[in-house]
Amino acid sequence: MSELALLGGQKVRDKEFAPQQDFGEEEKRLIMEVLDSKQLSGFLASPGEKFLGGEKVRMLEDRFKDYYHVKHALTVNSATAGLHAAIAAINVNPGDEILVTPYSMCASATAAVMHNAIPVFVDIDGDTFNINPAEIRKAITPETRAIIVVHLFGYPAEMDEIMQIAREHDLKVIEDAAQAPGSTYKGNQIGTIADIGVFSFNQNKTITTGEGGIIVTNDDELAKRISLIRNHGEVVVEHYPVETVAGIVGYNYRMTELEGAVGVAQFKKLDKLNKHRIQLAEYLTEQLHQFTPIITTPRIKAYSKHVYFVYPMKFNAAEANVHRDKFAEAVRAEGVPIGAGYVRPIYLEPMYQELLAYGDSGFPFKGPHMKKTISYPKGMAPVCEKMHFEELLTTPICHYPLTEKDIDDFVAAVAKVLNTIGDLVN
Ligand SMILES: Cc1ncc(COP(=O)(O)O)c(C=O)c1O
Repeated sequence: MSELALLGGQKVRDKEFAPQQDFGEEEKRLIMEVLDSKQLSGFLASPGEKFLGGEKVRMLEDRFKDYYHVKHALTVNSATAGLHAAIAAINVNPGDEILVTPYSMCASATAAVMHNAIPVFVDIDGDTFNINPAEIRKAITPETRAIIVVHLFGYPAEMDEIMQIAREHDLKVIEDAAQAPGSTYKGNQIGTIADIGVFSFNQNKTITTGEGGIIVTNDDELAKRISLIRNHGEVVVEHYPVETVAGIVGYNYRMTELEGAVGVAQFKKLDKLNKHRIQLAEYLTEQLHQFTPIITTPRIKAYSKHVYFVYPMKFNAAEANVHRDKFAEAVRAEGVPIGAGYVRPIYLEPMYQELLAYGDSGFPFKGPHMKKTISYPKGMAPVCEKMHFEELLTTPICHYPLTEKDIDDFVAAVAKVLNTIGDLVN
């Protein structure tokens, strides 16, 4: 009988991995302050002090402003809400095109559809898994209004090139930094390079408030518009003069004081948590080198700081003589987390394949506002599809409070499967 757990053998690891969430006395103390205040949310949708929220959300916003050296930080109740508010703030028209990577969590593109804009998926770079600037150039049309740049897995996209293209074509750029708090590009904080940056605090992120997010910008007008969009702006817009009221349909994207309280305590830990991730990831990289050329570790440019929200690897099936999916299945069976790819290319979701978003009219993809026919054919982003379906492996294992011993188990599982690969093939 094979030793592989997938084929009935003993697992390398039986023990669960410790969760990454790190809550302590400060979270508890600040939550209790909120409960004792009897004020779980500090927002009111009317002109005045409370339009901008309560003490704890403002404290969190102030901490972000200090850390990121930005003029404005606005909490929201998710990064999805934040991305939508950002798109609404830049005032896109129905049918305007927004360039976005197909390789991300779905909200990076859905946020455009939420504002009746059309996501145009631009293929990725096969080494960084981020949007490829050369492909951005090819995708620009007279309808293009903006680019949403995702820093996937915590690794910075090529912002210099992207900002240069945006300037040439007068496009707004929104950074989806949900996975990359604390990451840097050429010495600049990710999230602060473009017009607007958006971070997520959902349950699985490096720092979490359960649900939540924050938007940063140095643009006064955009910040004003975002604060209106966040809090039922249509009822108060005449008290907060903005250049144009167009697009100021307000939502309730407000963060509660409870989330703000947890966020204040969590934010203090960001550097510590990232340092831990980077140390474990670097250790994992060293250990994985023994599997070259079957496994390729992340390629990192000297000017970019990876914060390893997810640790990506590339798998060479021809060298290994087994399909990537089979390999990942066998490693997983050994009791360690590994993914075959990440999430499927966004355009393969039914909304894009069927062109159905709101009702059955095809809006916003079809209708009198559209100057062209939209379609999202399979194969439209070949590098992304190759990475997702054939080459990419991911593991979330590089996080606090895991240790090198946990990484050793991961590496042992990989080694075991590669050493007995013949059992999988036969
Ligand atoms: C890249 C990216 N963008 C956006 C989001 C949406 O974040 P939220 O869950 O806070 O809405 C996520 C969440 O997983 C994400 O990873």
